[in-house]
Parts: sequence; structure tokens; C-alpha cells
Amino acid sequence: MTLEEIAKKMVARGRGILAADESTGTMEKRLKSVNVESTKENRLNFRETLFSSEGMKNYIGGVILFEETLKQKSSQGISIPELIMKSDSVPGIKVDKGAKILAGSPDEKVTEGLDGLRERLNEYYKLGARFTKWRAVYCISDKYPSSQAIKSNAHALARYAALAQEAKMVPIVEPEVLMDGDHDIEKCYKVTTDVLNECYNELESHKVLLNGTILKPNMILPGSACKNKVSSEEIAKKTIECLKKNVPSDVTGIAFLSGGQSEQEATKNLNEINKINDTSFLISFSYGRALQQSALKTWSKNMKDVKKVHNVFNHRAKMNGLSSKAEWSENLEKEFAA
Ligand code: 13P
Repeated sequence: MTLEEIAKKMVARGRGILAADESTGTMEKRLKSVNVESTKENRLNFRETLFSSEGMKNYIGGVILFEETLKQKSSQGISIPELIMKSDSVPGIKVDKGAKILAGSPDEKVTEGLDGLRERLNEYYKLGARFTKWRAVYCISDKYPSSQAIKSNAHALARYAALAQEAKMVPIVEPEVLMDGDHDIEKCYKVTTDVLNECYNELESHKVLLNGTILKPNMILPGSACKNKVSSEEIAKKTIECLKKNVPSDVTGIAFLSGGQSEQEATKNLNEINKINDTSFLISFSYGRALQQSALKTWSKNMKDVKKVHNVFNHRAKMNGLSSKAEWSENLEKEFAA
């Protein structure tokens, strides 16, 4: 398959991406929040439970894994990438080494992980990965993000993306403008514009083939502590406008992160975005928390009740699958939940 074909498969109509690539540290926080100990076995158990659900077959075109999971075996003895492929979904891997303090601007972060990346990518390909992810984070305040943070993160994203394509894997380019803060939606629009522009300048300089990439951006939202709440219609309008102006039309797919939105907010906003999508991009989801939160709670109460966990996960996956086609509604949400 070409990179473009892989990208298209990951965000094909009605499908999106499950971001199950929490680092061990993040997974520890998530498991602690539901009073489960973060052991290798428990992390695998939860993830395998999701990957063996029916919802995977119909609504999940790709799964982003953490390195630990990529190398694990399922209880049936097959590798986790093989288990994912059984649902006709594409296995992928987070390849960055996390956001670290940016020297010269210590309140900001730059994502590391380029050293030795070529060798790691070749190993991940052999283990079955066909796409990769690298996440950069940008905070919003009066002073930030600085142009230093915007430039250094864009440069790293582009070098990563070029290496991923060299290794025959689709790079997911994830520049995440964080929701933290009391800024309004206009500020998020402006910062996201600057961030995306710099990213695409660098991707072009590094000769990345855009049709073999997926962009994983934030939606255009007010900060989580902003007093001015805005409607989903407004969020959708601003998000589409920002993407149209700042993302080259060669890009195949756009799969949003959920970034701290509730499960239903993330679903509703994606639905509104797709209702007015007049671009050539396939627009879908690449959710972590917004796909897993309820399933994690259910699992933590009784890990053995796989059927119950599957029901919860299948529902969320289905609702987001509908949103990626602009076919979701609050009534359907209630009807299918019942
Ligand atoms: P959330 O959807 O929970 O923001 O996670 C997506 C992700 O992969 C962050 O890198």
C-alpha cells in the first residue's frame, strides 16, 4: 500500500483513530484515577480488551500504540499489532520521547526523540507498525507560545515526518495547542494559525509528501477557564476556517485530538465540523481520553466483565464513527446508549 492509501484507510468514512499510546507515566495517572495499579499486565489487559471489541471492526481505522504495547502478545498468543490487523485496522506507534523543557524558554516545551529515530523506525516497521505519531505541545498565555517554541517544534516535527516516510510509514503530525488557560476562542485561532503555518513551512523544506501524512490538530476552542462559552456551531465554523486557510489541500486526513473535552463534547464538535466540511480533507477523530474514559471506569470495576467494557467502548466508537460522517445526534446518543 502507498502512504496515501494507508492514510486514507486510517480515516476512511465512518472510521477514526484510537489513541492508546499513553506513555507509562500517563497510563499510571489514568489507572490511578480509577484505583487500579499500573502494572505491565494491567496496562495490557485494558488495551487488549479494547482491541478485541466489535467496535474496532466498524469504527477504528488505526490504533496508536506505545512501544511497550507494540512488543506485547495478546492472551491468544498473537502479537498486539496482529490483533489490531484482525479488525482490518492499522497499527501505529508513538515515536517521540516526550515534551521536555525548552532551553532558553523554560516555561515551554520542545518534543525530543530524533536521535536514533531512523533505527527505531526500522524496528517498529518490522514489528508491524505502518504509521507513527509525534506530538508537540504549545501553551497559551500573554507571552506564549514564543516564536522559539513554534519554530523548534515545527523543525522537529518535520524532521520526524521525513524520517517516518523514509521508513515507509505515515507520519501523524500533531501540533497540540493546549486548552489550559482563560484565553478566548480568537486567541486559540490566532495561535493555531501561527503554529500550523510554521509546521507546513518546515514540512515543505524537509520534502515531506503531504498526501502521505495525517494532521492531528486541536479544535479551535476557548481555554478551559474562559468565561465566554461558545456553541459547537461556532467552534466548527472557526475550526474549518482555520484549517482551510492554513493546511495545504494535499494533506489527506485530519484527525482531531480530544485534548480534555468530555466524551460528548468531542463527539458533538466533530459532528458539527463535518456538517460544514467543504474541504477535500477526510476529517475524523484520533481520540485518547474521549474514546477511553467511560470504558476505563467500567473496566476498573470488574476487569473480567469483558462484555460490559466492550458495550461501553463500542458505543463511544460508534458515536464518533457517526460524527465523522456528520450523522450523529443527541437523540441517537440516547437511543443507542439505552
Ligand atoms: P486526547 O484525545 O486524550 O487528547 O489524546 C490524544 C493524543 O494522542 C494526545 O497525544
